[in-house]
Amino acid sequence: MEVAILGATGLVGQTFVKLLETHPWFEIKRLIASQRSKGKRFDEVAVGNIPEDIGEIKIESLSDFLKNPEVDLIFSALPSSIAWGVEEELAKRVPVFSNASSHRYEEDIPILVPEVNGEHLNLIEVQKKERGWKGFIVTNPNCSTAILAISLKALSKFGIRRVNVVTMQAISGAGFNGLSAMHIFDNVIPYIEKEEWKIENESRKILGKLEKNKIMPVNFKISAITTRVPVSHGHTEAVFVDLDEDPTVGELKKSLESFDPLRALKLPSYAKPLLYREVPQPKLHKDLGSGMTVTFGRMERIGEGKFKYITLGHNLIRGAAGGSILNAELAYMHGIL
Ligand SMILES: NC(=O)c1ccc[n+]([C@@H]2O[C@H](COP(=O)([O-])OP(=O)(O)OC[C@H]3O[C@@H](n4cnc5c(N)ncnc54)[C@H](OP(=O)(O)O)[C@@H]3O)[C@@H](O)[C@H]2O)c1
Repeated sequence: MEVAILGATGLVGQTFVKLLETHPWFEIKRLIASQRSKGKRFDEVAVGNIPEDIGEIKIESLSDFLKNPEVDLIFSALPSSIAWGVEEELAKRVPVFSNASSHRYEEDIPILVPEVNGEHLNLIEVQKKERGWKGFIVTNPNCSTAILAISLKALSKFGIRRVNVVTMQAISGAGFNGLSAMHIFDNVIPYIEKEEWKIENESRKILGKLEKNKIMPVNFKISAITTRVPVSHGHTEAVFVDLDEDPTVGELKKSLESFDPLRALKLPSYAKPLLYREVPQPKLHKDLGSGMTVTFGRMERIGEGKFKYITLGHNLIRGAAGGSILNAELAYMHGIL
């Protein structure tokens, strides 16, 4: 299938390109960015070694692409501030898999994490019918939510009552121009705009049930504090969870380690979702499973049915481009693409 990447020169866009270079089903055909990048070869603006056939692709402006979006599939890594109207316009004709937050909270648009809520893909039919679109929009969550939701899904069989989480998020989560070096060097910034609200609300929607063509969010309490730390890639999260049941730490670990719901599908980007490491660290563990595996560790019981643990994942891969590609693979496998 022929693919276009919107926001191709940004951090998430360039990650899409790397992950799709040798993809067996999806072939990069068009790379789109702002007017500033129009006409440049991709290898003039991208970091790292780019294969010749992709490096020589000339970047198109978004306005030019909108006049002629002739591809089979679009991955969007546009800033949320402009994604709304653009993605709606494109979805009239072509499926759009988006990293932007602008459509995540629409009732008929899923926030998909295949290991957690693959059945939410059924919303696509509802969306196409109600909106009269030939294409559709599927979003993936905010990067911290994507990492958190996977361990929560594996814990959910014990009944989740409450979740508290403190994130330590990498600089790359803020995009290319996100933070000045003077601001983040030798510092921790305990505020990321709208991030706490996103984690709290996206998690409830993702872990919710699809009933009569509507997602019923889960009703556990969840509270987040988000911080930015001087780490280049990989978000780390300290999670405190209250469960209905009171399993042993061994039982919890086993439940997370054995969580492998889509193995049989053999999706090209699928990796074991959760791996245990005694002391998870972004420098050591963010690239496990080619960046798709979430690491957890430091698991302790702190009271009856109360536990704490650390989890981490690659924000640009598991939390963005890789997650989006896995979403498209699942849709392809189900014959939706
Ligand atoms: N970074 C992460 O870890 C992460 C994780 C999950 C989700 N996301 C979301 O993914 C999206 C991309 O994030 P990012 O970190 O890759 O941002 P980024 O590094 O700032 O890249 C933004 C991209 O959008 C393009 N762009 C900006 N304004 C545009 C315009 N008016 N018209 C067309 N293209 C325009 C830029 O092109 P130029 O180079 O030409 O300016 C660039 O390619 C955002 O919605 C973000 O919230 C990011």
